[in-house]
Amino acid sequence: MIFGNVWLMIICTLVNLEKFGVNAGKPPPVEVGNISTINDAVNFKIYYGHTFKVIKNVIDGKSYLLIQNKSRMAGRTRYCTSRMKSFVVPLSNYSLDTDTFPGFPVSFLELLGLLGTCKGITSNDMASECLLKLYEGGELTIVNKNETEQLSQFSAYFTSSTDQPQTCNIATFLPSSEDYPLQRAEWIKYIAVFANLEFRANSIYDAVKQNYMCLANISTSRASSFKPVVAWMYYEDGIWSFTTEAYKAKFVQDAGGENIDASINKITYNISIPDDLDQLHAILCSVDVVIDETYTLDPVAYNITTFLQNVGVEDQSCFAFLTNESVWRYDKKIQNNTSLDWYDGAVSQPQLVLADLMEAIFPTGNYTTTYLRNLAKGEQITDITSYDKCSTDALSALEPTIVPCQIQ
Ligand SMILES: *[C@@H]1O[C@H](CO)[C@@H](O)[C@H](O)[C@H]1NC(C)=O
Ligand SMILES: *[C@@H]1O[C@H](CO)[C@@H](O)[C@H](O)[C@H]1NC(C)=O
Ligand SMILES: *[C@@H]1O[C@H](CO)[C@@H](O)[C@H](O)[C@H]1NC(C)=O
Ligand SMILES: *[C@@H]1O[C@H](CO)[C@@H](O)[C@H](O)[C@H]1NC(C)=O
Ligand SMILES: *[C@@H]1O[C@H](CO)[C@@H](O)[C@H](O)[C@H]1NC(C)=O
Ligand SMILES: *[C@@H]1O[C@H](CO)[C@@H](O)[C@H](O)[C@H]1NC(C)=O
Ligand SMILES: *[C@@H]1O[C@H](CO)[C@@H](O)[C@H](O)[C@H]1NC(C)=O
Ligand SMILES: *[C@@H]1O[C@H](CO)[C@@H](O)[C@H](O)[C@H]1NC(C)=O
Ligand SMILES: *[C@@H]1O[C@H](CO)[C@@H](O)[C@H](O)[C@H]1NC(C)=O
Ligand SMILES: *[C@@H]1O[C@H](CO)[C@@H](O)[C@H](O)[C@H]1NC(C)=O
Ligand SMILES: *[C@@H]1O[C@H](CO)[C@@H](O)[C@H](O)[C@H]1NC(C)=O
Repeated sequence: MIFGNVWLMIICTLVNLEKFGVNAGKPPPVEVGNISTINDAVNFKIYYGHTFKVIKNVIDGKSYLLIQNKSRMAGRTRYCTSRMKSFVVPLSNYSLDTDTFPGFPVSFLELLGLLGTCKGITSNDMASECLLKLYEGGELTIVNKNETEQLSQFSAYFTSSTDQPQTCNIATFLPSSEDYPLQRAEWIKYIAVFANLEFRANSIYDAVKQNYMCLANISTSRASSFKPVVAWMYYEDGIWSFTTEAYKAKFVQDAGGENIDASINKITYNISIPDDLDQLHAILCSVDVVIDETYTLDPVAYNITTFLQNVGVEDQSCFAFLTNESVWRYDKKIQNNTSLDWYDGAVSQPQLVLADLMEAIFPTGNYTTTYLRNLAKGEQITDITSYDKCSTDALSALEPTIVPCQIQ
């Protein structure tokens, strides 16, 4: 289609020149009236035109042309190439890839109040009690993503998976590709663009960021120069590994702790090898707070005894994290023993994770954690269905939780 190719060339040229970039001084007039500017995230860009917008996903190089439903272009223009797909916005409905680990972080859609137009999921293993409630009420169906004709009945299909079905309505959502917690949370603006909800996304992100920065400020301006050492670690097939993901290290730093990774030269320790075990124990002697990330099929039964057995500890005397009772897991909020809200709500509201870590590192005994449970104190998981926050209205937008923050 010649007409379409001309359009594609124009759009690509504009995108390449960044003439429509929100950074290019004065933004052009936009029909929707509100735009989002990306301040922290680095893996996507948004460009605004008069009757359309373009999102470019920097990670996979894919672009999405979003055409305003009122414009003449909406009825005429359609793209479905490996590099560019088109959508008419606001989306009238969408579906989510909920079964590719770690699943789709539905909380972004809850914050935007967009669950009402979600009409399909690929699995009911998810941490969102509101979406689960809508599913149980027959508002949406489970679709098989191997069947492209099932996917194509929706205006969009959002996935965080890189292994993608060949369908024209697919859009990749990759908050976890970002290095830092706030960058991940700013992906709310990416989803909002598909619904013309930029205004709401901006205000949520501003509130989350302000709260996060305030908490980080308290932590980093603590009078004490002592920084407790925090280790994120997991056990698998006889091997303990320290985790080095950037966002976890950033959380520790922003909570006023120190990461272990700067001081060790080896990441993995095979507990069947005596030298390895000795080295692991020596390192653990310098640790004040442990976050045990070990995967388990049975989180209810995973307790401090499990941890001690895995770590091969008999003489506990030198371990500060045991005497101070500071061994944590991030599976406190879980759905049906399988889906951790750590991979969902914690991505869109990092201020809650930061507040949890601050309590883990500098305990006040006056804060109830959301995601972290203290194994050393025998704290149990909380099944999400028992929260029952959706008893009134599953469709209304969720407000972000702002943690009390007073700079002393
Ligand atoms: C942005 O959207 C909000 C709420 O929809 C509206 O009140 C405001 O006037 C809009 N701003 C502009 C510049 O159009
Ligand atoms: C465009 O979308 C809005 C909001 O969903 C809807 O009210 C309106 O009817 C749509 N207009 C057209 C021309 O489809
Ligand atoms: C989809 O296909 C994959 C591989 O071909 C298979 O492992 C999986 O079970 C299929 N899923 C469903 C829901 O049929
Ligand atoms: C989604 O919206 C499109 C466009 O309005 C419509 O054709 C389609 O039937 C809707 N699909 C579902 C599952 O509601
Ligand atoms: C941190 O707190 C100090 C003192 O109250 C204030 O001057 C500074 O602007 C704050 N910084 C941030 C990023 O909030
Ligand atoms: C750990 O060490 C034992 C003893 O040397 C060995 O049999 C085992 O294969 C090692 N495990 C892994 C995962 O390398
Ligand atoms: C941990 O659970 C096991 C069995 O599931 C139990 O035998 C053990 O006493 C528990 N440990 C603690 C500290 O409660
Ligand atoms: C651990 O407990 C000791 C004594 O109760 C205290 O001096 C130390 O600061 C605590 N360490 C941490 C990290 O809380
Ligand atoms: C809970 O898990 C069981 C077993 O994995 C499954 O059969 C059931 O459908 C799940 N229930 C919900 C509400 O997800
Ligand atoms: C989770 O697993 C435990 C057993 O470990 C079981 O008692 C409990 O009922 C399960 N919870 C749900 C919601 O299925
Ligand atoms: C506990 O927290 C509440 C709310 O943040 C605060 O008002 C109260 O002063 C705190 N109490 C203590 C003993 O720190």
